[in-house]
Amino acid sequence: MPQVAVVMGSDSDLPVMKDCADILKEFGIDFEVTLVSAHRTPERMVEYAKSAKDRGIKVIIAGAGGAAHVAGVTAALTPVPVIGVPIKTSAVASLDSLLSIVQMPSGIPVATVAINAAKNAGILAAKILALSDPELTKKLEDYQAGLNTAVMHKVDKLNKLGYEEYIKQM
Ligand code: RP5
Repeated sequence: MPQVAVVMGSDSDLPVMKDCADILKEFGIDFEVTLVSAHRTPERMVEYAKSAKDRGIKVIIAGAGGAAHVAGVTAALTPVPVIGVPIKTSAVASLDSLLSIVQMPSGIPVATVAINAAKNAGILAAKILALSDPELTKKLEDYQAGLNTAVMHKVDKLNKLGYEEYIKQM
């Protein structure tokens, strides 16, 4: 049964939202992926948001671009936590996506990640689920340790090569 719902306003968001699905898969979290548009399928959005909790969904990740309303309206319709992913647009430096997701009114939070940061949305969802899942907590700790190790390898290499040679090898 999916614990996380990954929704997006359009299939054009899918190449970005794929990063979210990939990291959830890496952590072994069951999720569903679908299209829910606040503007093109408003009734579906209401139905989807209202039924999420009873379907066992613990976190909703909503990506959208432009006048992006799916994350905020979904958050208004469910007690399930919503993470918003502003999708990069060609207009106004993507501020339309970012501000329409992050600038929620008091009482209706959307945990907004950076523009196109779908992977972080997946990791944040995993952290929420890990609060009641020690096995998942361990996976997150291992993941973070892996990030640390990767940087420390770079530190060693940089010390060894010096910055000029390091850049040449990049
Ligand atoms: C939004 O409009 C979608 O989330 C997408 O980011 C943007 C463009 O959608 P398409 O015109 O490509 O379907 O609703």
